[in-house]
Amino acid sequence: MRLVSRNTSALHGSVRLPGDKSISHRAAILAATADGRSRIDGFLRAGVTQVMLDSLAAAGVEWSWEKETLVVEGNGRSGFQTGPQPLYCGNSATTFRLLSGMLAGRPEWRSDAAGGEFILDGSDQLRRRPMLRVIEPLRAMGAVIRSMQQPDCPPLGITPSEISGIEYSMPVASAQVKSAILLAGLAASGSTLVQEPSPSRDHTERLLRALGVRLDEAPCRVRVFPIGRPLPPLEIRIAGDFSSAAFPLVAALIVPGSEIILRDVGLNPRRTGLLAVLRRMGADVAEIDRSETAGEPRGDLRVRAGPLSSTVVEGTEVVDMIDEFPVFAVAAIRAEGITIIQNAAELRNKESDRISMLAAELRKIGVAVEETPDGFSIEGPVEIRGGSVNSHGDHRLAMAMAVAGLVSKTPLEIEGAECVSESFPNFASLMNSLGAQMA
Ligand code: S3P
Repeated sequence: MRLVSRNTSALHGSVRLPGDKSISHRAAILAATADGRSRIDGFLRAGVTQVMLDSLAAAGVEWSWEKETLVVEGNGRSGFQTGPQPLYCGNSATTFRLLSGMLAGRPEWRSDAAGGEFILDGSDQLRRRPMLRVIEPLRAMGAVIRSMQQPDCPPLGITPSEISGIEYSMPVASAQVKSAILLAGLAASGSTLVQEPSPSRDHTERLLRALGVRLDEAPCRVRVFPIGRPLPPLEIRIAGDFSSAAFPLVAALIVPGSEIILRDVGLNPRRTGLLAVLRRMGADVAEIDRSETAGEPRGDLRVRAGPLSSTVVEGTEVVDMIDEFPVFAVAAIRAEGITIIQNAAELRNKESDRISMLAAELRKIGVAVEETPDGFSIEGPVEIRGGSVNSHGDHRLAMAMAVAGLVSKTPLEIEGAECVSESFPNFASLMNSLGAQMA
């Protein structure tokens, strides 16, 4: 599918974003193992969360929709069931890694079907993503994990087994890996300590705490204690995804004369690194309301267009905006001076190699991007010409390019834009409701 984005005059209006992807994944998997019926409001209805729901259904978990509320019948007592069908995780590394942790340590879930093994698989894109980072700590806990094709890549066979708590230092900051170990730790004998080189998003910890799980937390360290019983069911309302809000947010900053309001966005500080960096560059973004549910801060943001100046993004700041670099690059194009991104090698392990692919596509529209092994730099401001770019199957790259199209001289065509539905199915219509021209 091709999406065409055209030069637009001022954006105005207020919008609600789709539910937070990370919290939706965690809520679904925890609800599936709870004892009783959970109700999750604001659950993200998109490709990446659908594969989580389909995988849970394949493991015997029932769920349904009551209007916009996801209702999950927890299998806390009966457990998940192994079957001949693989649990298919599509393009979703979060689904794959969280399920790996959840399945590793529950021997009572082993049935004779399929040799007592759960098979986890995914798309060709997912089959190329690194899984050793989750296999290694889970095996250290005693997990039985079998590589079925390429070593340490999907598909994997996981035989639920007795596992023990460990103390593990993660070589890279990754919330998915941390969460997989914590979920395994719930079923381990003894406690499990995870240490990370810099703090990653902590939605799993916040949700577990809200459910009454004992956690000892210190900066860059969290210890989880096994629960010895199923979790209680969840009743939560999930806020809009800050990572989705980032697209209209940057659009409103760079399209002259814009003023928009983003309603009820998740404002967990481990997710809003982009906001801190953009404010440093001069962005006019105000929080006009703030509240908290299930331990997660949320609020409305008012965004006004204005001049931006360049900055350097490095160190721990990178993790707090790890998913936002494609759209951040678009802000950097319009900023005065050289914006430098470093210590961001993890970007090469995302849905695409987000350093090389971003640089390649931006060059096509007239932006000189200097690529380095762990980042890139952009000198702005640049007048973007239109033309044709490719998403490389990466939803965030596709949406970032569509935002660039709002300030390009001639229309910008994004090939392969169907991937947008992985995380933000109503992206174009939401942008158009603010005055954009995307079709
Ligand atoms: C996520 C963590 C991040 C992020 C991904 C979602 C999560 O990945 O890029 O989109 O929900 O835990 P890593 O943990 O691999 O950095």
